[in-house]
Amino acid sequence: MEEKRNEVNDSLPVKSLVVVFSYHHKNTEKVASVIAKVLDAPVKTPQQVTPEELQEYSLIGFGSGIYSAEHHKSLLDLADKLPQAGNKKAFIFSTCGVPAFVYDGERFREFVLKNHLPLREKLVSRGYTIIDEFGCRGFNTNSFLKYFGGLNKGRPDAEDLKHAEQFALNVKAMAEGNRS
Ligand SMILES: Cc1cc2nc3c(=O)[nH]c(=O)nc-3n(C[C@H](O)[C@H](O)[C@H](O)COP(=O)(O)O)c2cc1C
Repeated sequence: MEEKRNEVNDSLPVKSLVVVFSYHHKNTEKVASVIAKVLDAPVKTPQQVTPEELQEYSLIGFGSGIYSAEHHKSLLDLADKLPQAGNKKAFIFSTCGVPAFVYDGERFREFVLKNHLPLREKLVSRGYTIIDEFGCRGFNTNSFLKYFGGLNKGRPDAEDLKHAEQFALNVKAMAEGNRS
């Protein structure tokens, strides 16, 4: 019985893709690279993919910096155009500019999930199952912040990227262990 299940799993490799838009300081691109390495997935921008071609993948990561409390418009627009996904899995990630003295710990996690809400709703409405979500801080020199050296200098740092790697390992395990 167990052997049979493994045979089925072996014949259905998870085909993964990471879609990222990262422009401010390429913060989210760093996170995307780490995740993509674990998943052995290509990294593409929303502009480099068509909604139809995403149908080829059984696991897709969608990420960007947070701009005005949501993901980048190009990612949200892509999600709007996706065909209905049958039994496809996705994960969401981001970097954001809020410093630890504003939100930390569980409050930061809540802040991340709130910023993810617009993208999450679109993906869920297209039939995607969201496996998990990841967020960390990113260097932020938006607007007047540039005159003060910015916030979150050096982020994402090695520890953030370690967390991103662990997140990807968990996502991989969940996607592989839960295929049908
Ligand atoms: C135009 C603009 C708007 C932003 N709005 C927010 C925001 O609403 N909340 C937040 O936490 N960070 C905000 N940030 C900071 C970015 O989310 C943060 O710097 C992020 O790491 C940028 O990612 P990127 O380098 O991948 O583009 C904003 C940055 C820019 C440039």
